[in-house]
Amino acid sequence: MSDDVLERECVADLVRQQPKFLQLYKFAIDELMTKLRILSEEFDLAHRHDPIEHITSRVKRPEAIEAKVRRRGLATDLAAIAEGLDDVAGIRVVCPFVSDVYNVAEMLTRQDDVELLRRKDYIAAPKDNGYRSLHLIARIPVFLSDRVEKVKVEVQLRTIAMDFWATLEHKLFYKYESQVPADFATELADAAVLAAHLDSRMENLHQRLH
Ligand code: GTP
Ligand code: MG
Repeated sequence: MSDDVLERECVADLVRQQPKFLQLYKFAIDELMTKLRILSEEFDLAHRHDPIEHITSRVKRPEAIEAKVRRRGLATDLAAIAEGLDDVAGIRVVCPFVSDVYNVAEMLTRQDDVELLRRKDYIAAPKDNGYRSLHLIARIPVFLSDRVEKVKVEVQLRTIAMDFWATLEHKLFYKYESQVPADFATELADAAVLAAHLDSRMENLHQRLH
């Protein structure tokens, strides 16, 4: 086995051998999921509209952590991984309407213990391929038996239409090994514009009803 292969296996192993490392990210997800569930239920009761359709979450697999560490050329110790990767913990919040996306982001980030590190608004400025979503990198405290750890979580907020497009685009092309053929890319971007139009029309109906 070459040195390269040996080294390649070491990051994933390192992460697996320190179960407390990924456990912290799981706890951070647990906390944020509770916050989001509270917002969803409380807003629903107060305003008779639930701003969250559904939520999914995942802790990045050791192999995927390894791949990203290699891609980014990061140092291969846990501190460097925690510092360099923003998406070891990921939460995806799917909302009915565009206004809900911004509303939920605002309600979440104004909480005292949620520290907003970065906000990428791919709704206001979609990616070239048409991808739209609001991304937040937040840091929250996790209270352990003997200390408090601040843990980063990537929160992706999007509408059902944005999620529909992104899920199918991911299946088709995302992280495509080679270039996506130009005609496919154009058609995909057109489909994203259609999804954005749908969002505007639904938002409009929603505003008229509320
Ligand atoms: P990654 O290295 O992919 O994490 O990108 P990044 O660090 O530049 O961050 P960015 O906010 O652009 O993307 C983070 C995540 O958003 C990705 O891991 C995907 O889950 C999602 N995402 C970003 N761009 C796209 C896209 O074009 N299509 C789809 N389906 N998902 C995307
Ligand atoms: Mg990612």
